[in-house]
Amino acid sequence: MKVVSVVGARPQLVKLAPVAAAFAGTPHTHRIVHTGQHYDADLSDVFFSGLGIPDPDVHLGIGSGDHGAQTGAMLVALEPVLRAERPDWVLVYGDTNSTLAATVAAVKQHLPVAHLEAGLRSFNRQMPEEHNRVLTDHAADLLLAPTAEAMRHLAREGLAERAIAVGDVMVDVCLRVRDAVARGEVPPPALPEGVDPTGPYLLATLHRAENTDDPERLAGLLDALAALPVPVALLAHPRLVAKAAQHGLTVGRGAVRVGRPLPYAAMVAAVLGAAGVVTDSGGLQKEAYLLGRPCTTLRPETEWVETLTDGWNRLVPQPGALGPQWVAAATRPAPVAPRAAPYGDGRAAVEVVRVLAERVKSHP
Ligand code: UD1
Repeated sequence: MKVVSVVGARPQLVKLAPVAAAFAGTPHTHRIVHTGQHYDADLSDVFFSGLGIPDPDVHLGIGSGDHGAQTGAMLVALEPVLRAERPDWVLVYGDTNSTLAATVAAVKQHLPVAHLEAGLRSFNRQMPEEHNRVLTDHAADLLLAPTAEAMRHLAREGLAERAIAVGDVMVDVCLRVRDAVARGEVPPPALPEGVDPTGPYLLATLHRAENTDDPERLAGLLDALAALPVPVALLAHPRLVAKAAQHGLTVGRGAVRVGRPLPYAAMVAAVLGAAGVVTDSGGLQKEAYLLGRPCTTLRPETEWVETLTDGWNRLVPQPGALGPQWVAAATRPAPVAPRAAPYGDGRAAVEVVRVLAERVKSHP
């Protein structure tokens, strides 16, 4: 079996890591195509080196752009690559513009597409990620769902026959790295200057278009972070830096200490060192849950609804509207309730490879 994985943005590299490792022990051919959506070393290269992912076989170097220009450029560049490779599966990950471009490029050539992390829904049609997820799920041939909830969403959209629950590959990598941190194999993370790693701190990220692109909204969120009574280690995504500069907003003020994005293992170590997490990232919400840290999510909804159980994750779309309750929410202690394992047992990637091999079809 020959599988081509198409990735491009940071969260896809995290998901690719356990999948590439699972392929490594098999006779199957696995090729990696990087669209270049994320090109900064902080968002791309350190994930390949840090997670032991083989270098991409093909790098398209597309870079940033408006949605249409970015997605269209990927589609054009992917077509000849997939035509030359003719894999048994094109494997696409998550919900970025790279996911959608690879899906469209593949289905137009009648190449079977498998979607890893299928069935997630925010039901917020303002989000570019929601467009990408829905369109990808409806075009793909095989839907690899991480949770029972994702399976229910797919069934409601008439996609049950193409769907199979495989667990969440992010658990594979998160737990492996958590154990490496516990064994002392991960150096202390490079937290922003002014954050004492031994004192209480909150770890924060902010990058979603719906939070960064409107100046008033972004100003309100930055005000809320600045007002917290403990240091906030804000690991700034390039989109946040670019949008804050464009809107004339200062990110590092009050409690907020600004740092660069961290490599994956350092990020896990930083979550383990933190009292809690404040974020709009999907992956980080789940990592906080897996690592047993309370998470406050700066969005009106989450795709990872299981994290809301027993208050492990809490949605706070408008921190300013909470008044003094905002500080209480963001600094709340970890719940005492034990966590279930809705995302699987950390062996999802092996299951992904098994299912792909089992369902491989011959094609012209
Ligand atoms: C993308 C995904 C999002 C995912 C996120 C993780 C889409 C629609 N969005 O958002 O789902 O959660 O990745 O990070 O695919 N930039 C750089 N260097 C880079 C990459 C981006 O400076 O390496 C800057 C550019 O100013 C660019 C902006 O960030 O315009 C946005 O990048 P883009 O790829 O459009 O989306 P993300 O916000 O990273």
